[in-house]
Amino acid sequence: MDVVKPYCEVEVNQSEHPPTKAELVLRVSDKDGLICLVTDQIDNDVLASAPQLKAVSSISVGFNHIDVSEATKRGIYVTYTPGVLTDATADFTWALIMATARRVAEADRYVRDLKWKIAWAPMMFLGSEVYGRTLGIIGLGRIGSAVAERAKGFRMKLMYYDPVRAPTQKEKELGIEYTSLEKVLKQADFVTVHVPYLPETHHMIGRDQLRMMKPTAHLVNTARGPIVDEAALATALKEKWIAGAALDVFAKEPIESQNPLLHLENATVTPHIASATVESRFSMARIAAENLIAVLKGEKPTFLVNAEVMTVRPLSRARML
Ligand code: DGY
Repeated sequence: MDVVKPYCEVEVNQSEHPPTKAELVLRVSDKDGLICLVTDQIDNDVLASAPQLKAVSSISVGFNHIDVSEATKRGIYVTYTPGVLTDATADFTWALIMATARRVAEADRYVRDLKWKIAWAPMMFLGSEVYGRTLGIIGLGRIGSAVAERAKGFRMKLMYYDPVRAPTQKEKELGIEYTSLEKVLKQADFVTVHVPYLPETHHMIGRDQLRMMKPTAHLVNTARGPIVDEAALATALKEKWIAGAALDVFAKEPIESQNPLLHLENATVTPHIASATVESRFSMARIAAENLIAVLKGEKPTFLVNAEVMTVRPLSRARML
């Protein structure tokens, strides 16, 4: 608000809940700029209802909730907030790797449910070692790379798959081997997903891929829910094709009460909070505001998703306070 208010009249959704589509359509209809969250579906209907709209600025690194190609056609600049949430998300990915390996959430429930009746037992809550094991990273972008850096302390063998191979120098620095998706799935003890959600990555981890994983392996997803086929994962966890999974993202958020993953002890589930640190969220908000104001001032925003838009509607200063 401090960044935006000197330049614009601001209307804020006062509810804790995301606006409904009808509210969004109505309230954006006379606006020049929109700051949105991952929970707002900025589709063609929303864009079509806002003839004055010049910028959609998302407080997120992912932008699969925005119809970018439609925005580009309409001359609307789409911006995002990469970088500032990389460390928070990589840290949290590690929290989930440790949690699923050592059954932290399950053990916490056990203690709180007053099921802890024997002080110490040799076979109680046995988990998997992390130190020295193999970490498979799917997607070696900013966050995947930050997860790899942190693995050094655990002396892990690192392997990755990415549709685009990283430069040799980067592979050397991270000490990571490039390989096929199949080999990552077959060999890694921990597989962590860091690709964006695109039509090509929908259910990238499905039944066949889960079948390839070791029965002792764990899957972690802090990227986007629909990259993993949840029904196949629930079967894999129930039938012990893999040892465990830790998920921060789901196909449907908030998670639905009938989701079978909620009833599986070997699934650790968290509510889309990987970037939720004070530092990261305040930086994301500030950058989103700066991106928006840049477009309205007629300046190129630092984090522009659709650079092609500059030829559709060249930058120009909007009417401001
Ligand atoms: C993002 O930024 O895309 C995350 O999912 C929320 O931090």
